[in-house]
Amino acid sequence: MSAIAINKLFSVEGAVVVVTGGGSGLGRMMANALAENGAAKVYIIGRRKEKLEEVAKGCKGGVVVPLVGDVTSKDSIESIVEQVKADSGYVNVVVANSGHSGPTMHGLPQNPSIANIRKHIMSQPMEDFTHTFAVNVTGMFYTCVAFLELLDAGNKKGNMPPTVRSQVIATGSIGGYNKNIGVGYPYNASKTAVHHLIKMLSIYLGPHKIRANALAPGLFPSDISAPLLAGKDGTQEGAFPANFIPAEKTGDDQDMAGAILYLTSRAGAYLNGNILVIDGGRMGVLNTSY
Ligand SMILES: NC(=O)c1ccc[n+]([C@@H]2O[C@H](COP(=O)([O-])OP(=O)(O)OC[C@H]3O[C@@H](n4cnc5c(N)ncnc54)[C@H](OP(=O)(O)O)[C@@H]3O)[C@@H](O)[C@H]2O)c1
Repeated sequence: MSAIAINKLFSVEGAVVVVTGGGSGLGRMMANALAENGAAKVYIIGRRKEKLEEVAKGCKGGVVVPLVGDVTSKDSIESIVEQVKADSGYVNVVVANSGHSGPTMHGLPQNPSIANIRKHIMSQPMEDFTHTFAVNVTGMFYTCVAFLELLDAGNKKGNMPPTVRSQVIATGSIGGYNKNIGVGYPYNASKTAVHHLIKMLSIYLGPHKIRANALAPGLFPSDISAPLLAGKDGTQEGAFPANFIPAEKTGDDQDMAGAILYLTSRAGAYLNGNILVIDGGRMGVLNTSY
C-alpha cells in the first residue's frame, strides 16, 4: 500500500491511548473512533464507573478499558498510570479531555445592573471558580506529566509508524478565545490556560520527542453543552442559524472522530504545539482573541 493511501496515512492500528473523560461526550466519541479503527488499547478514565463500563461494552471486546479515577487527585492519577503500566507498559497518546463548566452568568436579567452583577458573582463560592481550574487546568497538566515515562516508552516501543512521536492532546475550547462570557468566566479563562500550557509543553518536551497538541472544539452535544442545547438535536444541518454557527449545526461523532484519527495517525505527525479548531466556523461570529 502506498504511504499516502488513506488506510495507511490515517491508520491508528495498534495505538495505545489514554482518554480522560472517556465515559461521556467528546471523550466517548474519541474512544469509540479509536477502538473502531484498530487501536490496541484505549484506557478511559472518569469518576463514574457505570458510564465508563457502558462505553467499554459498546466497543470490540477488551479494547476499551475502563479505569475509575479523578484527575484532581495526584494519587488517583498515579494509580491510573500504574494500572496502564502493568497492563501495556507504554502509551502512544494521552488525551487529557476531562472538563468541568463551573459557575456561569446564567440567571441574570437581560441588561443586569451593576448591583445584579456583583450579587450574582459574589453569591458563587470561590471554591467553585477554583474547581473549574482544578479539573480543566491542573488536572490536565498533571495527567500529561504523569504519563511522561510511558509516553517515552511508547516512542521506544516502535508500534507506531516511523516519525509518529508520542503525544499529549488536551481538549481546550473555542471558549479559550472567546472574550464574551460564553460558558462562564472561569471556564473560558481555564481553556486559555489549557492552550498556553500545551504550547509550553510542546517546546519543553520537544527534546524528549514528545509532542503536545490541543483540540479547540466549538459546540458539540454532551453533558457540558446540554444547558445550551436545551434538549434539541443540534447535529442536523439547519438546527442553528448561520449567524450563530456558520455550519448551521453542532459538531458530531464524525467530526470528533476525524479530528482524533488525524491527530493520532501518521497524517497528523507533523503537528506540535498546534491548537486544532473544530467549530463549524463559530469563532468567526464571536468576539474572540483568536
Ligand atoms: N461539548 C462541547 O460543546 C465542548 C466544547 C469545547 C470543549 N469541550 C471540552 O470537552 C471536554 C469534554 O467535555 P464534554 O463536552 O464531553 O462534557 P461531558 O460529557 O460532561 O464530559 C466531561 C468528562 O469529564 C470527566 N470529568 C469531570 N471531572 C473529572 C474529574 N475530576 N476526574 C476525572 N474525570 C472528570 C467526566 O467524567 P466523570 O463525571 O465520570 O468523572 C466526563 O466524562 C471538556 O474538557 C470540555 O471543556 C466541550
